[in-house]
Amino acid sequence: MALKKWSSRYSVGVRILDEQHKIFVGIFNELHAAMMKGQAQGIATSLFRKLKEQVIEHHSTEEKLMEAAGYPKLTQHREHHRTLIETFESFSARHENGDHKVYVPLLYAFRDWHDCHLLQHDREYIPHLAEKEFHREAQHGSRELT
Ligand SMILES: [Fe+2]
Ligand SMILES: [Fe+2]
Repeated sequence: MALKKWSSRYSVGVRILDEQHKIFVGIFNELHAAMMKGQAQGIATSLFRKLKEQVIEHHSTEEKLMEAAGYPKLTQHREHHRTLIETFESFSARHENGDHKVYVPLLYAFRDWHDCHLLQHDREYIPHLAEKEFHREAQHGSRELT
């Protein structure tokens, strides 16, 4: 599986969300690089901890912004987030139980997150958040959402 490189075409137009998405790509690449060197087991505990923290922070930020923008598919998007958390938590539990075959499927789960969630579901809120940003700019003369 190829490394993921951040590209401006992945941008959702809100800086904090782009920064958080980049962190996920970084975690993916960290796991990928460790696996290539046969060192996944050594970084797995810290990687799962980092992943959990980032997932909680990112979903919270993204959902607050979608809520503020009145995003019509918020409930559905929350459901996608919940499923993602369950998927990653199940991998974390397998790791804690000593299952060292968990890294390859975790990498595939990352790829699915990247290709399905980041490049499809997250992109759907772009016009709604952009519209909200426009209204704030109009009201306050500055960009507050970025
Ligand atoms: Fe999302
Ligand atoms: Fe996201």
